[in-house]
Amino acid sequence: DVTQPKAADLLEWYDRHARTLPWRVAPSDRQKGVWPDPYRVWMSEIMLQQTTVAAVKSYFEAFTRRWPSVGDLAAAKDEDVMAAWAGLGYYARARNLLKCARAVTEDYGGHFPDDHASLLTLPGVGRYTAAAVSAIAFDHPEVVVDGNVERVMARLFDEHQPLPKSKPVLTEYAASLTPDERPGCYAQAVMDLGATICTPKNPACGLCPWRPACRAFANGTTTDLPRKEPK
Ligand code: ADE
Repeated sequence: DVTQPKAADLLEWYDRHARTLPWRVAPSDRQKGVWPDPYRVWMSEIMLQQTTVAAVKSYFEAFTRRWPSVGDLAAAKDEDVMAAWAGLGYYARARNLLKCARAVTEDYGGHFPDDHASLLTLPGVGRYTAAAVSAIAFDHPEVVVDGNVERVMARLFDEHQPLPKSKPVLTEYAASLTPDERPGCYAQAVMDLGATICTPKNPACGLCPWRPACRAFANGTTTDLPRKEPK
């Protein structure tokens, strides 16, 4: 039988096992009131779309060293940004990166807006990125759902309906777990859990803080999930 999954159990795990990433403020520092620069959170989330953490790290360091603030990036030459992006792929992201930096500089005085609706109006910022920036940079209780989170929710609730049809129900599960306390840490914790423990193959269920609550683990269906509609 399974227990109820609790955000608090995941947060306790995150406090001990959060990955150290160049754009991340450690959970112990966030608890002391240290917050990440929304510009750095936004840039990391744009780069992490369709690109792995390992590949993004050096680009993130290079971009933020060369253009430390959103105003610096807004003032950059298009061709310099495109050249610095070379190798990351999906070049529409780089064009939108510049457009967005200029919009934040011109329309918001160089300060990223903190609410989901305003963030959504920015070039290249979709639902996922708006939620991620709002949660991670501003600690708003946004429901952040990427591929990692879909996999974790499908397993936790043993959801056998295939993606993409199951997306709304997986989002509802994610919403039901999102806490009012430390939502920014929670958003990053679910993504870390998906990336390091609840992996597509050979998940490390023995190390998972949610194993007692996991319906797929109880039913032996973990590695069948999430199911995907054949394309
Ligand atoms: N993948 C994309 N964004 C991430 C984040 N903020 N933390 C961990 N993994 C991520």
